[in-house]
Amino acid sequence: MARIGILTGGGDCPGLNPVIRAVVRKALLEGYEIVGVKNGWKGLVENDTMPLNLNTVSGILPKGGTILGTSRTNPYKTQGDVERVKDSFKKMGLDALVAVGGEDTLGVASKLVKDGLPNIVGVPKTIDNDLSATDYTFGFDTALNVATECIDRLHTTAESHHRIIVAEVMGRHAGWIAIEAGIAGGADVILIPEIPIDIDEVCEIIKKRHARGKTFSIVVVAEGAQFKDGDMVTQEQKLDAFGHVRLGGIGENLASLIEKRTGFETRVSVLGHIQRGGSPTAFDRVLGTRLGVKAVELIKNKKFGRMVALAGIKIIDVPLEDAVKALKTVDMELYDIAKVFFG
Ligand code: F6P
Repeated sequence: MARIGILTGGGDCPGLNPVIRAVVRKALLEGYEIVGVKNGWKGLVENDTMPLNLNTVSGILPKGGTILGTSRTNPYKTQGDVERVKDSFKKMGLDALVAVGGEDTLGVASKLVKDGLPNIVGVPKTIDNDLSATDYTFGFDTALNVATECIDRLHTTAESHHRIIVAEVMGRHAGWIAIEAGIAGGADVILIPEIPIDIDEVCEIIKKRHARGKTFSIVVVAEGAQFKDGDMVTQEQKLDAFGHVRLGGIGENLASLIEKRTGFETRVSVLGHIQRGGSPTAFDRVLGTRLGVKAVELIKNKKFGRMVALAGIKIIDVPLEDAVKALKTVDMELYDIAKVFFG
């Protein structure tokens, strides 16, 4: 009987458990054995697994996070780790692997396919929604809804206290959460990594708005947004195994500049991991379930080196390398729509 492994890598995100459940249910239905690889690529480096069966996945559909655990381990970073991954693959008796992750995890999967582990299928995840070759990644819808609710809540305080509130949301390279939560939550200014921040313009928009009688404003900023000619604002400079710095702090910087330049009291609220936690929305549960079932179908049909993806309302499959070759950044047509409501 053929044996499938499944791992979840990179930042956790709502919808991972629905994918795991779907892969396990479909694999068992098709007569495969299935094993959970713990903590992303780390589990393959360290040969660390957990059993998966009907009981272990029972009740996980509405749960956030991942029952398999995750890590940002990059086997291409440490000498010998790729060989360790290949050894564990053999020791685990795997015939195929489902790798669930974002650009980093799937980037490793894509390299491994070329480096002697061809039987891998990818499933796209990230709250940032920045993976190419899929219209949406699961996790994004949940994060978007959490961020929108937070903006609604911030509105009430901003309005009552006549303040400006800067809401810092996640989004490392792409401002999908910022732009969509900003539109949905009626933000007065939205700042995204794709467009450098012009602080003069931001303050002008706010001043004009206040001049027409409004006494409060909401500014939504993605954590990866940068000032014109400025560097990314980071919590620390140390790089992770994929070369990323820990972001955070742009909201604080922005709030202090806005307060100084406009004279209006300005506060900041950093949403952080609240956006990544908690129960997935129905959209993310359904998307995760559809992607998980399709991943097993690909394995059954021996279509390896592929990633399952959403195209319109259909689940399709695309080459893994297409998913990781370029990031999907915010569509400027959407940004132009958001701009109609600035100020
Ligand atoms: O990639 C998803 C994401 O949530 C980014 O928006 C953010 O920059 C990053 O992960 C934070 O990762 P961590 O929780 O490991 O600091």
